[in-house]
Amino acid sequence: MCNFPVGIKKRQMKRVKLWDKEFEISLPNADIQLAIKEIANKMRVDLEGKKTLFICILNGAFMFASELMKEVELSDAEISFLKLASYAGTSSTGEVKELIGLNEEISGRNVVIIEDIVDSGHTIKGVIAQVIEKGAKDVKIATLLFKPDALQVDIKLDYVGIVIPNDFIVGFGLDYDRRGRNLKDIYTLVKE
Ligand code: IMP
Ligand code: MG
Repeated sequence: MCNFPVGIKKRQMKRVKLWDKEFEISLPNADIQLAIKEIANKMRVDLEGKKTLFICILNGAFMFASELMKEVELSDAEISFLKLASYAGTSSTGEVKELIGLNEEISGRNVVIIEDIVDSGHTIKGVIAQVIEKGAKDVKIATLLFKPDALQVDIKLDYVGIVIPNDFIVGFGLDYDRRGRNLKDIYTLVKE
């Protein structure tokens, strides 16, 4: 786990504008890649020979899942996708909608859920319940980002990339009203 880099303010600030809001760079791609490599190294040791089913939570986790799967190099891994939506604008609606469900056989499987970010934790808690209900043997959570100050539920996160403050961010899969997912760095909302 890496902590939010303290020296970031000294670097030249890169900004982007999405719709009506300004964002400034807070996590350059190199820091993100380092955090992903650390998770992949731990997973390789923990999950070797376990025939793991990875479940990527769309849309946000697509970029993290893609980088992580390339780094982890497990020959018996499978990957599937679950499409959920809970955010509107810069805050969670509290209601998690399932847009595309799981078709895979989950019963008796070792599952790792891949999330972009754990904020209030309601989304991941709902996914864990669903996977357990379908009879998974073991469920682990991998999240690229974690906002501990926003957490409202009791959950155990097995793999955390970077711990961040409770600010709204975009980039590397995360969006502000559908924009910003394609940015390779992560940017934080500039408060007016
Ligand atoms: P939670 O249910 O509150 O933990 O929120 C989880 C989902 O909300 C994540 O999977 C993201 O897709 C989205 N989300 C949470 N925080 C942010 C953010 O700062 N920027 C963009 N999306 C976010
Ligand atoms: Mg998400």
